[in-house]
Amino acid sequence: MKIAPSILSCDFSRLAEEISAAEDGGADWIHVDVMDGHFVPNITIGPRIVEAVRDATQLPLDVHLMIEQPERYIDAFIKSGATTVGIHAEACPHLHRTVAQIREAGARASVTVNPGTPANAVEAVLGDVDQVLVMTVNPGFGGQRFIAGTLAKVETLRGWIRERGLAVALEVDGGITEDTIASVARAGANAFVAGTAIFGATDYREAIAALRQAASV
Ligand code: DX5
Ligand code: ZN
Repeated sequence: MKIAPSILSCDFSRLAEEISAAEDGGADWIHVDVMDGHFVPNITIGPRIVEAVRDATQLPLDVHLMIEQPERYIDAFIKSGATTVGIHAEACPHLHRTVAQIREAGARASVTVNPGTPANAVEAVLGDVDQVLVMTVNPGFGGQRFIAGTLAKVETLRGWIRERGLAVALEVDGGITEDTIASVARAGANAFVAGTAIFGATDYREAIAALRQAASV
């Protein structure tokens, strides 16, 4: 099981300290939300900041691109230190080409679907990716409410991954808390992004341990 704190909810004036605290608290990956103000109605982080994140931790960086035409920026984010690059199926008319570009550039390829996008949007590339990310809120902001209607999609994807014997991580992102994590874990998710539930807590170690505990029951 992987717990990936999303720095979207951290104190950006103390970015390096916040990342160290998450790492010391037992995080597995650091999740970085990149938004362009077009694909989603918010603007966040570019490659230069990812470089700073890279310098602040030993942990793998799970970079989630919520941007149009992600193929234009994949190489830049990998050069900045991304371990995994996630692109949205909705932003990629040539999805197979785009995930291949990520792998060819040396990173893990993750394909993401919004709550309104069905599982079959990524079925054809399941064998060509390292991770599928199911959005459990509509992307753009931290602190939103978990959408329970996404659970069926997690179950469907877990079924396909199992049937085909694939080593694909199944990640969820949005509204993941101590109260919601058990349901997505039971549906088959094994990587969990959490922003507010970790960076909004006073003790990150306790928050991460509580999520891990709730996910394993
Ligand atoms: C939302 C981002 C998430 C966000 C999650 O668009 O992709 O990674 O930071 O934040 P919480 O855990 O607060 O819902
Ligand atoms: Zn994210």
